[in-house]
Amino acid sequence: MTILVTGGAGYIGRWLATELADRGHDVVALDMQPPPATPPFLPSRATHVFGDVTDRATILDIVARQPLSAIIHLAGIVTMGCERDPELCMRVNLGGTTNLLEAVRLNNVPTFVFASTISVYGPHVAQPMVEGVTPAEPLTWYGQSKIMAEQLGLYYQRRWDVDFRAARMAAIVGPSRVAGSGSATMYTSLILERAALGVPYDIDVDPAAGTPVLYARDAARGLAALATARSAPRRIYHLSTGLATAHDLIAIAKARVPSARFTFKTDAMLGPVSVISRDWDLSIAAAREDLGWTPAFTVESMADDLMAIARGDRH
Ligand SMILES: NC(=O)c1ccc[n+]([C@@H]2O[C@H](COP(=O)([O-])OP(=O)(O)OC[C@H]3O[C@@H](n4cnc5c(N)ncnc54)[C@H](O)[C@@H]3O)[C@@H](O)[C@H]2O)c1
Repeated sequence: MTILVTGGAGYIGRWLATELADRGHDVVALDMQPPPATPPFLPSRATHVFGDVTDRATILDIVARQPLSAIIHLAGIVTMGCERDPELCMRVNLGGTTNLLEAVRLNNVPTFVFASTISVYGPHVAQPMVEGVTPAEPLTWYGQSKIMAEQLGLYYQRRWDVDFRAARMAAIVGPSRVAGSGSATMYTSLILERAALGVPYDIDVDPAAGTPVLYARDAARGLAALATARSAPRRIYHLSTGLATAHDLIAIAKARVPSARFTFKTDAMLGPVSVISRDWDLSIAAAREDLGWTPAFTVESMADDLMAIARGDRH
């Protein structure tokens, strides 16, 4: 049956659409933007539909058009966009999710998956971090909007039995990552990509930066697993490939491309943010036990795959 992916023209959305199509699903990729002319591309089995998740009438109409086995809700405003415009952040991330949840309830869509983030956690958290145990006390508008949307989803589950499931994803790494200016985690992709392409790279974060990362292919498999698992009793799941520091990634890149050149030019705003999650030990036991999902990559094999794609040796 068909799966609707909101934000389907976005970076994760296009990887996910390909994963779902490979598993035999038809995909409707809803987005307010057209898919870009750069990879990853939407697969032929995906139909792109224009729509704004803040427009309830449009969302109700699109969801009612065909029977859906699941909705995977990725459309949203990410970290620095939220800091720049908190009102837009809340309107899209919380208001848009409200519209989707209403559409799910009214149309009896069997499963609703929400793209959440490890940014729901604040800076000082005990290790290891476990869903439902580690307190979610964000210090950013982005994290705050996501935890409020999660809470709303859990409310719909309690009150109307909506099968709400959320993936708290680590920072996404992949080839051809594009982020608006000022992402505190772009370095995790660019150290590897620029090395593969032989382009020197001025790293904009603190030299001590680090974060749990999620390779785009692991994200696509994890979201697909969450949407298609018979049940997801814990409802909220971490997805992560592993922990990567800027120094680890530089060492991995240089082991493969000894001539790779890096310098640190720390941005005053990104520097402090980039070290918050450098020691986070994110448990992924719940996803393994309930969904049968484990990452297919390690940080090292992620680097090999990303660098091969960047060089055009793989796609
Ligand atoms: N990138 C990460 O590191 C990361 C980590 C954890 C969670 N997430 C979450 O995953 C989701 C997808 O992230 P991404 O990296 O693919 O971002 P992205 O910016 O590439 O994709 C988001 C998509 O949502 C669309 N969108 C924004 N507002 C919309 C609206 N009002 N109506 C319809 N579409 C709208 C955009 O056009 C875009 O195509 C987001 O919800 C994000 O918060 C991302």
